[in-house]
Amino acid sequence: MEKLTGLKKIKTAVFISGTGSNLKSIIKFSKLKKSPISINLIISNTRLAKGLKYADQFRIKKKIFNFINFKKAEKNISILLKKDKIKFICLAGFMKILSKNFIKNLDGRIINIHPSLLPKYKGLNTHSRAIKNNDKFTGCTVHYVIDALDSGQIILQKKIKISADDSSTSLAKKVLKQEHKLYPAAIMKIFN
Ligand code: GRF
Repeated sequence: MEKLTGLKKIKTAVFISGTGSNLKSIIKFSKLKKSPISINLIISNTRLAKGLKYADQFRIKKKIFNFINFKKAEKNISILLKKDKIKFICLAGFMKILSKNFIKNLDGRIINIHPSLLPKYKGLNTHSRAIKNNDKFTGCTVHYVIDALDSGQIILQKKIKISADDSSTSLAKKVLKQEHKLYPAAIMKIFN
């Protein structure tokens, strides 16, 4: 990743589909002097993503791409990334699975956050699955994005205790709080 670093911050896009609480934490982090990245673009697959409000709040360019035509959406995103000189991508609650080609073209420059201790519980409903299995711990993971879902090299993980009275909702809340710290820490780890 050395070749990305330098005096200027690395132009980064964040992809979202929902609430955008991780997006908010990444934006706040990016504004710190120590941050190696700047957030220059927010991409969503839906205009209903609540997190798009942070684009307005922090005056960051936003673009919505309709994924009904998946190929066309990815092609247009690639054109935009090139045009805006985006060198790094953070997926943060982005609910589309990017194609092999798209991932290959960005060659190790896409990372994602997942609400489990990967490789446990890839995919959806991680918290209810952990509770159902009587797990004592869960957590969150920041990892590189590769062709296989939630399977790329792990950058950082945080372990979180599951209490006897935890529901999937309370657990999601607990984990999300830690995600907001883990994502910036993982970005620091990559570039330092
Ligand atoms: C997070 O739990 C993240 O791990 C998962 O989707 C959720 C997104 O939450 N991939 P938010 O939109 O960042 O609030």
